[in-house]
Amino acid sequence: MTALRIERLDKRFGGLHVTRDVSLALQPGDRLALIGPNGAGKTTLINLISGALAPSAGTIHLGSRDITRLDQAQRVRAGLARTFQITTLAQHLPLQRQVELALFEREGLTGRAWRSIDGYPALSDEARFILGSLGLGAVAATPTQQLAYGEQRLVEMALALALKPSVLLLDEPMAGVPKGDGERLLSALDALPAQLAVLLIEHDMDLVFRFARRIVVLAEGAVLADGPPDAIRRDDRVRAAYLGH
Ligand SMILES: Nc1ncnc2c1ncn2[C@@H]1O[C@H](COP(=O)(O)OP(=O)(O)OP(=O)(O)O)[C@@H](O)[C@H]1O
Ligand SMILES: [Mg+2]
Repeated sequence: MTALRIERLDKRFGGLHVTRDVSLALQPGDRLALIGPNGAGKTTLINLISGALAPSAGTIHLGSRDITRLDQAQRVRAGLARTFQITTLAQHLPLQRQVELALFEREGLTGRAWRSIDGYPALSDEARFILGSLGLGAVAATPTQQLAYGEQRLVEMALALALKPSVLLLDEPMAGVPKGDGERLLSALDALPAQLAVLLIEHDMDLVFRFARRIVVLAEGAVLADGPPDAIRRDDRVRAAYLGH
């Protein structure tokens, strides 16, 4: 079954038409990169999908469920995750604890005192597994606020994965990450669960062509091209609109 299906999505900000009749679908396991010039409407599209913005027209389905009218929290519970803003979370806690808390919430256990997390060893194991898969095992005991910036981006990913999403939206995860940490982020992307459908916005074309098995090009709010990386690389319209050289 299709993991995410967007049909004829449209968004206007007053007179500005920023999303124009966009349709696209993600299958389970897809690794889709969304690229396009600055201002093409990439972030707006993610905001529409995640529920941060309401569309002017069109529908969004997650699996078989119409989520067009759900709020952000409801969409997250339905299995749609975008990377968390960790700034809002308990940064003084050890990383392991922070992921355990996210798992605790996912399981609907938040009515209990979080100190009782220790009574759920399966959640602790799951948190360890998630951190290990992202290469964060060695810093599990470190408070998030003491981690390097590149590692904090991985923490955002860990917290998103804790929700066991079917679809993950990533908006420029490499932005501001120092060169030395870039490779770790790439390995983490490689290690994402096989069945997860991932939509990545990124300007770094090395990362895009290494990660994506499919690329959608957005220009002036509309889909300019949608296809496998090789075809996108050779597409004259895409080169003219974005890839340039
Ligand atoms: N809340 C808003 N109100 C009015 N206009 C907006 C709003 N959000 C975005 N826009 C406009 O919509 C257009 C698309 O912006 P968006 O941020 O989606 O582009 P983008 O493709 O993510 O660009 P970048 O690559 O620079 O991140 C831009 O012209 C932007 O100014
Ligand atoms: Mg953007």
